[in-house]
Amino acid sequence: MTETVLLVGGGGREHAIARAVERSPDATLFACASNRNPGIDAASEGFEPIEETDADAVVEYARSVGATLAVIGPEAALEAGVADALDAAGVYAFGPHAEEARIETDKAFQREFMADNDIPGCPDYEVFEEPAAAADHVREADRDLAIKPRGLTGGKGVRVTGDQVTAAEGAEYVRESDHEAFVIEERLVGEEFTVQAFVANGQYRVTPAVQDHKRAYEGDEGPNTGGMGSYSDASFELPFMTEADYTAAVDILDAVVDAMPGYKGILYGQFMLTADGPKVVEFNARFGDPEAMNTLPVLETDVVSILRAARDGEDLPELEFKNRATVCKYAVPDGYPADPQAQAGAEVTIDPGSAGEALLFYASVDAREDGVYTTTSRSFAVVGRGDTVTGAEAVAADAIHRADETGLRVRHDIGTAELLQARIDHMNRLRGD
Ligand code: AMP
Ligand code: GLY
Repeated sequence: MTETVLLVGGGGREHAIARAVERSPDATLFACASNRNPGIDAASEGFEPIEETDADAVVEYARSVGATLAVIGPEAALEAGVADALDAAGVYAFGPHAEEARIETDKAFQREFMADNDIPGCPDYEVFEEPAAAADHVREADRDLAIKPRGLTGGKGVRVTGDQVTAAEGAEYVRESDHEAFVIEERLVGEEFTVQAFVANGQYRVTPAVQDHKRAYEGDEGPNTGGMGSYSDASFELPFMTEADYTAAVDILDAVVDAMPGYKGILYGQFMLTADGPKVVEFNARFGDPEAMNTLPVLETDVVSILRAARDGEDLPELEFKNRATVCKYAVPDGYPADPQAQAGAEVTIDPGSAGEALLFYASVDAREDGVYTTTSRSFAVVGRGDTVTGAEAVAADAIHRADETGLRVRHDIGTAELLQARIDHMNRLRGD
């Protein structure tokens, strides 16, 4: 039977999902988002401009196209109950209900859930409902802390003392911010990595580890972003980690699935590999962006077969991956993330043809009659594939170089041999070898 799949969301992550669905032998894709992403548009039979958080409009569109499955990309849609609404309308949504998505959308819930269910890898934390008390706690702390607004901030809300800010600056940030509640926790030191799993029917299937680069500028300087780029290796592990580290991360995801048997969708674990093994930085309730662009192009299993098994209460298929490394590099407006208006509205000239051997994923751009224009967030990404991370990097670097987008910024260091070695050295130092 052919499936009619509705994709919600219009960023780079959703372009990667669209491409994976497009590859399926028996699916037709429709999409809706607030922006018109030319890559998604090209992969779809139909596109409707709809706010991702407008559950009623998404349901109406799903019904009008006869959707038999839906995939929800962005966390804001999950928080708004779009999966709940689609399920209630009889369209199976691959994405958790708002209640379960709190594992991402409510950082206090996330930590309390871990503590209540003895999920391994939880840092010491405290929840503050009042900014003044939170600010005092930060100022008076005798160790480095991560300061996290309780709700969604697009990856830009966290401040880490002893790293990005001093304790006094952290306290000031809390006092002056619009956020009311905060989770304040021990600063984890190590190398970050992501493991994403397809989850449904109490089962999960894991994908290769990915390392994202949150900081805006080369050398891990500057403010946090939604992610400037990422890499994965030809195996499930990354060069700075062992198989046992990967397994320990999977054991944490296993414990989450066990404690939340109704969860369905992608479960994304963000881990800090510390000297004592992986600890949980956070969970997300959807694919990572950029990580989806590393993972889906090397997934050999038909993604629609996974969604269908999830919907039909069947065993999820065992996943197969091409043994290829990937490097993803985002081009972002120069002002991103601090001054998002800078370079918004610039014309994007790269197209799939000029990306060479790399895959091109459009993100927060808008396709208008006279061209493709940047918005205030990440514009497009290129993904190189190769037998090694550095081989994949060369392909991505070549594509970004050809793009030569004036006014867009790229972290050229992502996936380079120098940065990989620095990660390995960092981990070796922490582990004392
Ligand atoms: P999040 O919004 O939770 O993804 O956090 C954004 C970034 O803040 C993470 O990718 C980490 O780099 C950093 N971060 C969050 N929590 C911690 C922590 N407990 N220790 C150190 N860094 C953290
Ligand atoms: N890459 C981080 C995220 O998707 O939240």
